[in-house]
Order: sequence, then structure tokens, then C-alpha cells
Amino acid sequence: MDLTSLTTMWWAIALLFITVLATKITRARITNIDPQRTTGQLPPMVNGLALLGLLPTLLKKGLPPMFNYLYVNYGSVFSVSCFGVIKVTLLIGPEATTHFFQGLESEISHGNLLEFTVPMFGKAVGYGRDTATRMEQMRFHSEALRASRLRSHVSPMLQEVEDFFAKWGEEGVVDLKLEFEQLLMLISGRCLLGKEVRENMFDEVYTLFREIEKGVTLISFLFPYLPTPANRQRDRARIRLTEILSNVVESRKSSGRVEEDTLQKLIDSKYKDGRPTTVEEVAGLIIGLLFAGKHTSSHTSTWTGACLLSHPAFLRAAIEEQHQVAKKYKDGPEYNAFLEMDTLHNCIKEALRKNPATPLLVRRVHKRFTVQTKEGQQYDIPQDYIVATPTIVNNYIPYIYTDPQVYDPNRFGPERREDKVGGKFSYTSFGGGRHVCTGEAYAYMQLKVIWSHLLRNFDLELVSPFPNTDWSKFLPDPQGKLLVRYTRNGI
Ligand code: HEM
Repeated sequence: MDLTSLTTMWWAIALLFITVLATKITRARITNIDPQRTTGQLPPMVNGLALLGLLPTLLKKGLPPMFNYLYVNYGSVFSVSCFGVIKVTLLIGPEATTHFFQGLESEISHGNLLEFTVPMFGKAVGYGRDTATRMEQMRFHSEALRASRLRSHVSPMLQEVEDFFAKWGEEGVVDLKLEFEQLLMLISGRCLLGKEVRENMFDEVYTLFREIEKGVTLISFLFPYLPTPANRQRDRARIRLTEILSNVVESRKSSGRVEEDTLQKLIDSKYKDGRPTTVEEVAGLIIGLLFAGKHTSSHTSTWTGACLLSHPAFLRAAIEEQHQVAKKYKDGPEYNAFLEMDTLHNCIKEALRKNPATPLLVRRVHKRFTVQTKEGQQYDIPQDYIVATPTIVNNYIPYIYTDPQVYDPNRFGPERREDKVGGKFSYTSFGGGRHVCTGEAYAYMQLKVIWSHLLRNFDLELVSPFPNTDWSKFLPDPQGKLLVRYTRNGI
């Protein structure tokens, strides 16, 4: 669009006006309702028989078409009941999810739904502790990952990325999914765990972490303490990993050595009463971060590859942006250069809109509240209900996203800003509100460091078919390998 032309200027003014108006209307809609008022009306119920009718769709096409069918037919607030065994109320779209994301921890929280993380991270942290302690520990996480702290991670991230891709040949075919998984773990090893682990015991730590991760199955989610082989292996691995990390923490404390990594930030964290974090707490907190960032980041980097490499126009635009940045930052990219890569940022964000790493966010209701749909219909959500919001539907709402099935990173550009126009909680790939992802800025930074290096140094071509999502997994993934032919190039 030619921003100097008069017509464009009028369009821009009109768009700005509509944006402001739409945001105000959405906000008004969101904030005017008192969540504690009672309406006496429960959400419509989708019963077990109706769900059984949807089973073929679920098995053939996966979760999104099923949820979409329910959304189209039952609206943005409804409950599903599987013959009384599982009962969940679904809240869809920014109007219905305000309290879900913003409600006080005492009113709506993960409750015991994340109990399966206790044997993974240990009893000293998170859902092994009382709410007040857990909230303080969440603060330690968010302070350790604050955007302003990111600057110190850029140089180690760059070094890991350069060393990793230096091992590729002049040309070849690789499974990008596998490559990203290994590379991201190396970056976490360096930036989160620190150089002792990265340089001396990375392989053992990586193996142990994978064993803990393998314990994340539907069975361990439902019965975290059942002595299955996977759960037993998970428990052994956590004990050994805690031991290794505790030794690192003790050694830093006794030698007075201070590092620039996230582990150090957690060692230095203090509770409100001045108490420092214990060695066991630090180990649990850092395992929690590894877990929160690993699958989500490798999932997103793989989808970014699949989407970019099958949309030549956006691939060209992302490469062109690298040329521009390279001209400006002649000594190589640094912190500010990555912040300026808007095209690449939007390509990643759009890949994640279409393929959220966490398709469903879940909470337990501790205090009854009222929701209001976009159409103005109000419902009571009683205490003890389990509520969920499906990111895979939120990110495709047609009144927020134009042609939602299309991969179009420009929807986040300054002219459209569809997620902002749609209002708070229109884009929920990183959650929102009280439990919004504390690693978002870190995640974007590492993904941009990786993808910027690839775009600058290689010609890439997707040689396997565009992947489907593997819905059979507890944490869905791009199915199969992502085979890519590379040829070394160099901007
Ligand atoms: C593209 C990558 C990522 C995606 C898509 C993602 C997504 C999410 C989502 C959806 C939530 C909210 C869960 C809920 O509401 O129940 C969340 C929470 C969280 N994420 Fe991420 N995440 C990513 C990367 C990371 C990284 C790299 C880290 C840390 C290094 C991290 C740390 C956390 C933490 C600590 C929370 C819990 C926040 C809380 O409960 O207060 N995430 N993430």
C-alpha cells in the first residue's frame, strides 16, 4: 500500500477510527458485566449421545473440526458431558473468556488439574505448594524471564545457533523437527541451566529430562502416582536431575560464583519475607521452565518452517527483511536487530495462531461466576465446574480473523492488527491474563535467532508433504518428519 497517496491516508484514518471504536466496544462488552451476578441460567449441554455422533469426525479429522462444529451449533458457551463421567464447560472467544483469564486465583485456578506436574518438578515447587507460595514462585519465573533480561541471552543463543549449523554440510536433507529439538535443548542448556551443565553434563541432563517428559501421558495426567513403568522412570530421572542441579547450585553458592543465566536469577530470588529460595526449589523451578519451554518452542519452530517453506511470498519477504537488517547491522545481528524483524515475528506468530502448542487451556472454578456471550446471552458457571477454552477455536474466530484458514502473517501487520482489533484475549497461543506465558519474549527471541540464521545462510526447500497435526499425542505435534533440503548460501 502506498502510504503517501491521499486515498491511502483516508483509509488509514478510517481504519484507525474503526480500530479505536471496535476496541472500545469490545472493552465495554468485556468489562460491563459483573461476573458475580447470577442469571439462573446454565450453559446449554451437549450430551453423551451427541458427542458419540461426533466421534467419527474426531477420529478422522482431529479435535479442531469437532470443537468447531460444537461452537457453530451451541455458541461460545456450552458444557459437554460424557455420560456424567467428564463434564467440562467450554468458553470460546474474547467475550466469554475474560474471567477465565483474569479471575483471581481464589476464584478460578488450575486447581488440581496440574497435579501431574508435582512428580515431574518435585513437591518443593508449583502445585506441590500452597497457593501463596506458588504465586511467589510464579513471580520468580516471570522476573527471571523479563524482557529486559533477554539482552544477556542473545549472544549465547547466537553462539549455540552458529555452532549447531556449522556442523551441517554444503548441502543435504535434514529432519528439521529433530534438528530443532536438539538445538533448542542446547540453547536451554546454555541460557537457562548455565555453562556448568552445558559444558560438562549436557548429555546426561538431556537424557534425564527426556525421561521425565516421557511420563507426560494421558495415564500419568489422570493417575500421576500410579506405579507404571513410565511413571517410575520419570520419578527416578527427576531425583537424579534434582541431584545434579542441586550440586551446581551448591557449588555456585559455596564458591560465590555468579553467572548471567536464568538458574542464577532463581538462586537470587527471595520470598516477600526475605527468605531465599532453597536448592530443591531452584532445581524444581528450573525443571518447570525447561518443561514449559521445550515442547512449545520446538513445536512452533517446526510449524514456522512448514508454513514459511510452503508460502513462497512470505518466505521471500522474510529473506528480504534479513537483507535489510544485515545492511543496517554490519557486524552481525544483535539484540535490537532481532526486535526489528517484524516480518519474521509475524510469520512465527501466524504459524502459532494456526497451530497452537497448547490446544486447550483448562481451569477449575472455585467461586461461581457469570459469563456473557458476544450476542449478550448470560450464563452462570457454578463452583467446582471445570472450564476450558480451546485455543484451536479462539484463533480461528471469523469475526476476528479474516479467512482464518489461510496462512497470512500480514494480518498482524500495522494495517490490520486483527488480534488487537479483536480485543484482549483474541490471540491465546500464549494464554493470557494471570497465567500468561512468562517465556513469550524469550521464546520469540530464540525462534528469531534460529530462523534468522537459517534464512541468511541457506536456501531451503520442503521435501516432505506439509504435515498434519498428530492429535493422538497428549501434546499434539506436527506429524512425522519435516524433511528439508538445504544448500549453503550466505547473505
Ligand atoms: C512458542 C513457545 C511457547 C508457547 C506457545 C507457550 C505457551 C504457553 C501458554 C499457552 C501458557 C498458559 C497456560 C495456561 O494458561 O494454562 C504458558 C504458560 C507458561 N509458559 Fe509458555 N509457551 C512458550 C514458551 C515458553 C518458554 C520458552 C518458557 C520458559 C523458558 C515458558 C514458560 C512458561 C511458564 C513459566 C508458564 C506458566 C505461567 C503461569 O502459570 O503463571 N513458555 N505458555
